[in-house]
Amino acid sequence: MTAPVPEFPADFLWGVSASAFQIEGSLTADGRGPSSWDAFTGEPGRVKDGSHAGVATDHYRRYREDVALMAGLGVGAYRFSVSWSRVLPDGHGRVNEKGLDFYDRLVDELCASGIAPAPTLFHWDTPLALEKNGGWLDRDTAERFAAYASVVAERLADRVPLWITINEPAEVTLLGYGLGEHAPGRRLVFDALPAAHHQLLAHGLGVQALRAAGARQIGIAASHSPIWTAGDTDEDRSAAELYDLLTNRLFADPVLTGAYPDEGLASLLPGPVAEDLKTISAPLDWYGVNYYNPMLVGAPRPAAGGSSFGGIEIPSDLPFAVRQIEGPERTDFGWPVVPDGMRELLAGLRERYGDRLPPLYITENGCSYDDGPDPETGRVDDTRRIAYHDGHVRALHRAMAEGADVRGYFIWSILDNFEWAEGYRQRFGLVHVDYETLARTPKASYAWYRDLIKSGR
Ligand code: NOJ
Repeated sequence: MTAPVPEFPADFLWGVSASAFQIEGSLTADGRGPSSWDAFTGEPGRVKDGSHAGVATDHYRRYREDVALMAGLGVGAYRFSVSWSRVLPDGHGRVNEKGLDFYDRLVDELCASGIAPAPTLFHWDTPLALEKNGGWLDRDTAERFAAYASVVAERLADRVPLWITINEPAEVTLLGYGLGEHAPGRRLVFDALPAAHHQLLAHGLGVQALRAAGARQIGIAASHSPIWTAGDTDEDRSAAELYDLLTNRLFADPVLTGAYPDEGLASLLPGPVAEDLKTISAPLDWYGVNYYNPMLVGAPRPAAGGSSFGGIEIPSDLPFAVRQIEGPERTDFGWPVVPDGMRELLAGLRERYGDRLPPLYITENGCSYDDGPDPETGRVDDTRRIAYHDGHVRALHRAMAEGADVRGYFIWSILDNFEWAEGYRQRFGLVHVDYETLARTPKASYAWYRDLIKSGR
């Protein structure tokens, strides 16, 4: 960490990310309707620390203070998400102007502070009324998403320079509908696949709706991990390939190439799939990558112990097992710290998609460390987070030197927040949040990022 971080292009966009359900709180304020996550967190045993997001970081009421923190950081952009059920309490039909007003005020506040607003339209909080109707298993949800996208864009497109349709559809499919660890808590395993297709269709229809409302610079935020093969048998290689297909390629291939990675799999999907793929693959202005760590995947061997995805246990009857990568340090979430995985991933995307890959943004990269304020000085000395980001920013620079066309980097997250089924125990923020007092304390990593942005390096 002694040598300065190498120089980035002058117009490289440094940003921070967050999402509505994880930070806003005020779940019944100003006519907001409930979401799938309101219901899920209300069921006993779903969230590990028994918490819910009723207050979260109270960002809905403290957004001005939070934008001031971003301004102090000097970021060029803030990636937030719009809560669909604030805007359309039933998911469709009646527009709740007061809900829309919140995002209008937020966008104005960001613009006045010189920060580009980068909204994500769906970051996992499906309106409950739609979820009750099948949620992403139901094709109508895709149509309704497009109608919602129009409403938001008609209000905000004049001030928003960067749009994201959907965040991490792979996690919603796998964790929400496949394994039941996230909302809506369904355990459908492979029968969850329609949720993938309908989110992809929603993305495609959403792009059309956004463009029709005058939105520019539209992308998607997809999670990507390099898949390392555990073991050296043919079974291990096939298991790793299948996992790569289900997590990386199932979403990227349709969007970037207009085809599913496997015809057998495409035949399991509902509706006029070939027709839908034309909508799904409409050209994008950019493609967003959320990177956390590589995955080590091999054939299931029950005797070798459990399999887990980001700390979530995977059933042993699946045709693959995700194992722990031994060697690298781990974050407090237990995720291995492998900065060069970001370079490897970006090189792999170029190799796989070539000219079909639009310019990229790293829409998320971050780490959970449980550092809190020192009782005497009040300082939060999160040196491990600084080391994490320093390593990843250098790996990103190497990737760009090798030819990756990356236009920006967004740290997850500006604030500690509600980490889904983990509750508040995982802290990803550059700013510490005391959940008793809601006081914000910038961590040492905040100062590190501010200096990096200032020096243009
Ligand atoms: C992915 C998700 O988009 C975000 O909501 C989550 O908090 C982070 N990764 C960390 O797990």
